[in-house]
Amino acid sequence: MAGVVESDPIPLLTPYQMGKFSLAHRVVLAPLTRQRSYGNVPQPHAILYYSQRATGSNGGLLITEATGVSDTAQGYPDTPGIWTKEQVEAWKPIVDAVHAKGATFFCQIWHVGRVSDTVYQPNGQAPISSTDKPLTPQIRSNGIDVAKFTPPRRLRTDEIPSLVNDFRLAARNAIEAGFDGVEIHGAHGYILEQFMKDKVNDRTDEYGGSLENRCRFALEVVEAIANEIGAERVGIRLSPFAEYAECGDSNPKELGLYMVNALNKYNILYCHMVEPRMKTVNEKTECPHSLVPMRKAFNGTFLVAGGYDRHDGINAIAENRADLVVYGRLFLANPDLPKRFALDAPLNKYNRETFYISDPVLGYTDYPFLEDVTNVVASN
Ligand SMILES: Cc1cc2nc3c(=O)[nH]c(=O)nc-3n(C[C@H](O)[C@H](O)[C@H](O)COP(=O)(O)O)c2cc1C
Repeated sequence: MAGVVESDPIPLLTPYQMGKFSLAHRVVLAPLTRQRSYGNVPQPHAILYYSQRATGSNGGLLITEATGVSDTAQGYPDTPGIWTKEQVEAWKPIVDAVHAKGATFFCQIWHVGRVSDTVYQPNGQAPISSTDKPLTPQIRSNGIDVAKFTPPRRLRTDEIPSLVNDFRLAARNAIEAGFDGVEIHGAHGYILEQFMKDKVNDRTDEYGGSLENRCRFALEVVEAIANEIGAERVGIRLSPFAEYAECGDSNPKELGLYMVNALNKYNILYCHMVEPRMKTVNEKTECPHSLVPMRKAFNGTFLVAGGYDRHDGINAIAENRADLVVYGRLFLANPDLPKRFALDAPLNKYNRETFYISDPVLGYTDYPFLEDVTNVVASN
C-alpha cells in the first residue's frame, strides 16, 4: 500500500461517519481509569478533564474510563459507577460539557470479576467470576505496588442472567445520563474475558468448554444491551491476544474471529480491538500477529488501540487497517492531541506516577495545551 505524502490531507484527521455520529477526525480518546471518582461517584472535576479532551477536536469520539455496572463490579479504589441514581445524575454535567464541545461520548461499562478483593465488595463478600481459580498477586501498572486478590466465587448457571441484566441496566442508565452509547469492556482480563478465554474458564455448563459456549456470556450481554438501547449505540472492546490478569487464550486469533463474526449478527456500531503487541500492561512488544483478519471480517466501524503514535495512526488509516485510532497515554498527557497531530507539534510527556492518584488536578487537568506551551516559550 502506498505511503502517505505529507502534503496530502492527513488520513487520521479526515472526517468519518460512524453510524449516525459524524466525526470530524479519527483520533479517539481511549478508556482511561483515573481513580478520581470518590466513593464510585463521578466528580465535578471530570467535567474539565473530559471537556478539555474535546477541545479543538469538535466531532471527535471520547470513551469514558471503565465504569462499574453494579456494586460487585469494582476492583480498584474510586472508579466510577453507573448503577445508582446519584451516579447517573453525576455523569450528566460531564456528558453535557463534552457535547457542548461537539464531541461524541461513549461510556465504557465493566465488571472486573475476579480482579478484585473483598474490600471492594458489598458486605466483604468474595468477588464473582466464571471460575473459582484465584488470581496470583500482580504488580500494578505503576510498576511498584502489588495488588492482591481474593479468591473468587464461581457463579452458578442460574445467576448469570442477573449479571447480564446488570449490564443491560447500566447501558440504560448511560443513555439516561446523556451518553451517545456504551462500550462494553470485553478486554484486559475482566469478567467477559474470564468467560471467553480458555486459560481461565473451567466451567462445565453451557458457558464453558467450546468456543461457542465460552463466548455465550459476552454475546448475551451484547444482545441484551442492543435490545435495550439499539445496536447503533453499542460498541465493544476486545483484546483476544492480551494476557492481562492471567487471562490468556490458547487460540486468540480463532477467538477474535469468532467474536467479530458473531457480533456481525447483532449489527453493533463498533468493535474496538487492542493490538496483539500489547501483551502486558502498557508495554509494546514485537509480535507476528495482526488485527487485519478481524478488521476484514467485521461489518461495522473498526477501532484499533495500543502503542499508536502519530505516524503509526496515519498509516493504519491510510492502509485501511482501521477506521479510527484510539490513543491512551498520549491523549491523557495532551488534551489537544488532534490539534498537535494536525500541526505535527511536539507532545507533552505523560507521567505514570500521577495516572492513578486521587488529586483532582495534578496529572489530570494540568497537562498544558499547545497555546500555553507556546506562550511560555514566547515570553521567556
Ligand atoms: C492510566 C490508564 C488507565 C487505563 N484504563 C483503562 C480502562 O479503564 N479501560 C480500558 O479498556 N483500558 C484502559 N487502559 C488501557 C488504554 O485504554 C490503552 O489501551 C493503553 O493505554 C494502550 O494504548 P496507548 O499505547 O495509546 O496508551 C488504561 C491505560 C492507562 C495508561
